[in-house]
Amino acid sequence: MGKGSKITIELSEDGGQPVFINLASSIIRDIERGRLKPGDALPGTRSLAKSLKLNRNTVDAAYQELTLQGWLVAKPSRGTFVADDLSESKPSYGKRHIRAPADSGASEATTRPLLHLSDGLPDPRIMPGVELARAFRRALISPSFLSGSGYGDPRGSIALRTSLADYLMQERGLTAAPENVLVTRGSQMALFLAAGAVLEPGQAIAVEEPGYPLAWSAFRAAGARVIGVPVGAQGLDVEHLARLAEREPALKAVYLTPHHQYPTTVTLGAGRRLRLLQIARQHGLAILEDDYDHECRFEGRPVLPLAARADPELSVVYVGSLSKLLAPAVRIGYAVAKPALLERMADHREAIDRQGDLPLEQALANLIDDGELRRHARKARRIYKARRDFLAVELDQQLGEAVSFDIPAGGLAIWLRLGDDLSAETWAGKAAQAGLAVAPGTRFVLDTAIAPEAFRVGYASLDDTDLRRAVTLLRQTRP
Ligand SMILES: Cc1ncc(COP(=O)(O)O)c(C=O)c1O
Repeated sequence: MGKGSKITIELSEDGGQPVFINLASSIIRDIERGRLKPGDALPGTRSLAKSLKLNRNTVDAAYQELTLQGWLVAKPSRGTFVADDLSESKPSYGKRHIRAPADSGASEATTRPLLHLSDGLPDPRIMPGVELARAFRRALISPSFLSGSGYGDPRGSIALRTSLADYLMQERGLTAAPENVLVTRGSQMALFLAAGAVLEPGQAIAVEEPGYPLAWSAFRAAGARVIGVPVGAQGLDVEHLARLAEREPALKAVYLTPHHQYPTTVTLGAGRRLRLLQIARQHGLAILEDDYDHECRFEGRPVLPLAARADPELSVVYVGSLSKLLAPAVRIGYAVAKPALLERMADHREAIDRQGDLPLEQALANLIDDGELRRHARKARRIYKARRDFLAVELDQQLGEAVSFDIPAGGLAIWLRLGDDLSAETWAGKAAQAGLAVAPGTRFVLDTAIAPEAFRVGYASLDDTDLRRAVTLLRQTRP
């Protein structure tokens, strides 16, 4: 970076990373793209902090991190430069070890890995990777793959649609045939396609607030207005929805996460379910039901989805995902709807993506059919339940009087309400400085003025040692 050139910070979508890690990643990107060349001088930390409106400690921490990793060299009294000897094998940024910034209040010169209290990610270390790889390999060398044209149905492979229809019938009580199923790259695509199929530009969709911002992005991409409806201990405030539907003729759909509300984890109460179906019928609202983590239920029987009870007149798009059961990087989601609605979604999908990943779909169909997916779900439930309980004890012991929470019946996160006068945003900022990423309530609202003072704390991807360290960091950084 010569004089006058700029580092472009691209903050990650979920904002879960500390700013200095984002800054360090931006600098690496600039080096990889050749915008910063070996030997180039970096701006001084003071001037870069000023131009990027960051704390100088943040820039310091990013430079230190990159120096430790060998991307940059610090030359006494001269400044910081891109390393001259960036060889073919560049230092890996995958194994992050960060130095605590001077003002973190944490132990000074030690290095430690970044901890991410995710918003509810699964642990990829326990997924049946070997079995999936084996099934994928089998699919790639199968006679049908070798003799096929490579192109197939935009709704997904018939094998996976059949397996999913069967799986969802048994697991979620859905009466679905393969014609009712569309396989997508994650449920994000399913939400995007559903919005395009049920909403015209300018129409409105009601969503839970707090809720899932990536779904809102998908709805806005379809030209829809997104209107928040409050959430309480029984889930979506359905009477609020009824009043909204009365006064807002453009309202055509409602999106919700009834099983484990995102982010608060509550389950939509039975009375509210019935009332919601009634309101949808009365006002002609389509229902987009996101059942993203239904396999992760620990207490009692899973509550059946709205889609299992809706009458045929209602437009319901039921959306699910394998992201929470396997890993988000395995991009498989699905939508279940009436064939005409599904057809519209499939047409749209074909225009942007033609079809999904056939060998992966075949491999997953095999894992469902031979029971591997269910075996894995049982194992995951056992491990995640133990982690949930471990986290609950740690939170009680270390932060008892500062926070309150209900132990969730399912899902992969705890909704942690903060005590009086504690700001989730401030606390998350301080935790980030100490190397702990945690999602504050502002992340989940349309209107930050009504952001809950709370954290969504995912527990499934960390083992007990890391969970304890994360809670300790939270305690140490309490404002
Ligand atoms: C509410 C909600 N829906 C869906 C998903 C899954 O998204 P995808 O299937 O695109 O990975 C998530 C993942 O975080 C989520 O929180």
